[in-house]
Amino acid sequence: MCGIIGYSGHRRACDVIIEGLSRLEYRGYDSAGILVNENGKFVTVKREGRLDNLKKTLENYSLNGTSGMGHTRWATHGGPTDYNAHPHGTDRVMLIHNGIIENYLEIKSLLVEKGYTFKSQTDTEIAACYLDLCYKGDPIAAIREMLVKIEGAYALVMMFSDRPGELYAVRKDGPLIAAPGEGENFLVSDITASIAYTNKYFVVEEGEIAIVTSDAIKVIDHDGNTIEKTVSVVNWNTDQAQKEGYDHFMIKEIHEQPSVIRRTISARIKNGLPDFTSDGLPHGFFSKFKSIKIVACGTAMHAGLIGKNLIEKLARVPVTVDLASEFRYNDPIMDENDLMVVISQSGETADTLAALRLAKARGVTTLAIVNVAGSSIAREADNVIYTYAGPEISVASTKAYSVQISVLYLIAFSIALDRGKIYENKAKSFVESLCSIPEMVENTIKLMPAVEKIAEHLKDHENVFYIGRGLDYALSCEGSLKLKEISYIHSEACSAGELKHGTISLIVEGMPVIALCTQNELTAKMLSNIKEVKARGAHVVLIAKHGESVSEDVADDLIIIDAVDDLFTPFAATTVLQLIAYYTAKARGCDIDKPRNLAKSVTVE
Ligand code: F6R
Repeated sequence: MCGIIGYSGHRRACDVIIEGLSRLEYRGYDSAGILVNENGKFVTVKREGRLDNLKKTLENYSLNGTSGMGHTRWATHGGPTDYNAHPHGTDRVMLIHNGIIENYLEIKSLLVEKGYTFKSQTDTEIAACYLDLCYKGDPIAAIREMLVKIEGAYALVMMFSDRPGELYAVRKDGPLIAAPGEGENFLVSDITASIAYTNKYFVVEEGEIAIVTSDAIKVIDHDGNTIEKTVSVVNWNTDQAQKEGYDHFMIKEIHEQPSVIRRTISARIKNGLPDFTSDGLPHGFFSKFKSIKIVACGTAMHAGLIGKNLIEKLARVPVTVDLASEFRYNDPIMDENDLMVVISQSGETADTLAALRLAKARGVTTLAIVNVAGSSIAREADNVIYTYAGPEISVASTKAYSVQISVLYLIAFSIALDRGKIYENKAKSFVESLCSIPEMVENTIKLMPAVEKIAEHLKDHENVFYIGRGLDYALSCEGSLKLKEISYIHSEACSAGELKHGTISLIVEGMPVIALCTQNELTAKMLSNIKEVKARGAHVVLIAKHGESVSEDVADDLIIIDAVDDLFTPFAATTVLQLIAYYTAKARGCDIDKPRNLAKSVTVE
């Protein structure tokens, strides 16, 4: 996820673009760049780090051009450096990009043959040079030719040096909004960037090309026909605009899950099978290890619990999961036969980093599953698989967890296949099921009104229990953490089978118990456990799968998720749990995005 802005108008483009980028910085902040067309010549300035670095550098420039574009980057391909910052391109053609060009290596070889050289490690520069190759004086023809070639997700804004004042834009699976003003027009990732100048906007749809000048925004279809767009008006302030109208970043990020899961998995699927070669992991990478140690903190550790369940079940490789803060002081037993997997959204968590360093010092191969490119953990691990969640602003992690488990699914399929535990056909059908998950999460999000009603009941309680078995127990741990951290209700996750070894003594009349029952082979056992707590007066909220043999009278409230193979229920179930936490905290009037005493990145132990 990155922030993009294009401008053509009557003001100094540099000022407008920097102002817009400061509103978009929440979308990515590891480097930023700007291009202004100064009397028919491109002037490009790019700096790694926060936008302030770019602003400082610009103090040495006097840029008066009235058209240009800017970008704030969330690194995917290539670290956060000056060179990798956008815009990218040549003297004739420059562009900014939000997304991932998946077949960039193939296009790169073709460009090398044509004599192109590259300054960055980015997929974007490859697309820019390919556009340059296609450009023979007709921007639309060149863009069309490029679109036939590139694969992946993109929102692109393009400028041609011999077309001063003109910007061109296209998108596929990435946000792109055109915002018409008075004598000035904008292309932006979201309306935050243009709202100080105009409250009008429309979405540039896939398959359309937008052509922007200071006087007009023209949109054409594939065949060159002009499309009349309906302009909408928005009355949000800047803060609401950053949240795209959602009340909180948390609920916005819950809604982003289908797209970020899609983005994260599609980059690792080739010919219907898991493939991590674009992450630099050779085929068969995982098969040389006898066991796997997963180490992480909080929500990331809970993702590890799902990973353990999947890898052990499918690949029959032993996996341990440890809290990083415990692991590092427990003199862990490990050797070169182990693979150490650390999971972290921020890539900066002090305990996880320390655990990683400990493993490296003992000669253990390390792999990091990380969201923030260029973070300490990403830099120090031997191998990195980036999750493509984009910046997660809400302190309570939601979309980062979903992409972490998506990667773990692919790893589990990959090991199972390499070790001959499943045939290629089975692996393909697993991958296919994983590809249908985004749609399933979309359906689950539609359960919001039902969840909101349940939250109305939960909000008046000070204790809640979560119970489940197998994968559902791992999910209970995450559901409980989510609720307690943002609603300040005390909650506990308990393996349902463990209840009668102590915890059940806490169940009293009216106590809410959130029971997960999504695993066919465990349904009978779970139903017994639910009856046990009901018999002691619990108010049971049951999350079950469509078609599961659970009758309504088992529970006081029932949430039904789509029917899928047991293996794939965590995505929908976790979405329900996130929504329960969100609406309960909202009903209690809590500061959802910034819960008390917590920080997004825990860089102290
Ligand atoms: C909870 C949450 C935390 C983090 C934990 C690790 O919602 O976000 O529990 O998961 O602090 O952080 P990262 O993943 O950045 O290492």
